[in-house]
Amino acid sequence: MEIISSVAALRQRLGRENSVAFVPTMGNLHEGHLDLVRIAQQHAKCVVVSIFVNPLQFGANEDFGKYPRTLQADCDKLAACGVAIVFAPSEADLYPQPQQVTVEPPPIAQELCGAFRPGHFRGVATVVLKLLNIVQPQVAVFGKKDYQQLHVIRQMVTQLNMPVTIAGAETLRATDGLALSSRNQYLTPAERTEAIFMYQTLGEIRKSLGGGNKDYALLEDKAVKALVSHGWQVDYVAIRSQTALLEPEAGERNLVILAAARLGKTRLIDNIEVCL
Ligand code: PAF
Repeated sequence: MEIISSVAALRQRLGRENSVAFVPTMGNLHEGHLDLVRIAQQHAKCVVVSIFVNPLQFGANEDFGKYPRTLQADCDKLAACGVAIVFAPSEADLYPQPQQVTVEPPPIAQELCGAFRPGHFRGVATVVLKLLNIVQPQVAVFGKKDYQQLHVIRQMVTQLNMPVTIAGAETLRATDGLALSSRNQYLTPAERTEAIFMYQTLGEIRKSLGGGNKDYALLEDKAVKALVSHGWQVDYVAIRSQTALLEPEAGERNLVILAAARLGKTRLIDNIEVCL
């Protein structure tokens, strides 16, 4: 496995490849990321994984400084998976000048997580556009755990006519159902036990929707109250359409239930797709 940090060296190396699949990450890799890698390997022999903690997508009071950086352990896992190339640029490699040209994401990026993390999706879209321009893969794989991120990236790729297929991968979960996330390691043992309650709460909404309940506002409100009563600080619980991430039109059958909430100092997100 080759570990490359400069943009020029990566471009030169990839000149030899005619088919590339790409998995962008911020490192601290877990089974969820390795699953994305395995999906990428179904699309191309040459899989590039980027590891870069992108400062543009973190707010001033967020965890950019303490985000776990575990490059050696990450590379060991990727080598064991048969990844061809790791792209691990420094901040100076990727942002040699202040990044004044940015991607303005679609209006949906102001809602849900975007309402609580101003500028987050601009930072995500900008770095993903740069990485896609550098790697020029035929396929790039993103997890559905970051449902809104996947939506924003699909919109960017479609509306900017980018020649790449975006593959969405199902969320990998621990045996108790907690969605795998690098941020789970911030949880204390007691918080880790409680963390599953968000997925269970979304599961309750799914059950109600399946039973024909269409009072979305009431279901969202009930879920928020349940989480608050368990000590969560809730950003939102929302039932949206899968296609546009907007409030569902009457008769909409493909829904997604999304939530973001804080347990202690850790902000967790999760979602469940529901097809009625
Ligand atoms: O999902 C992530 O890990 C990041 O948001 C991404 C897509 C690698 C961009 O920094």
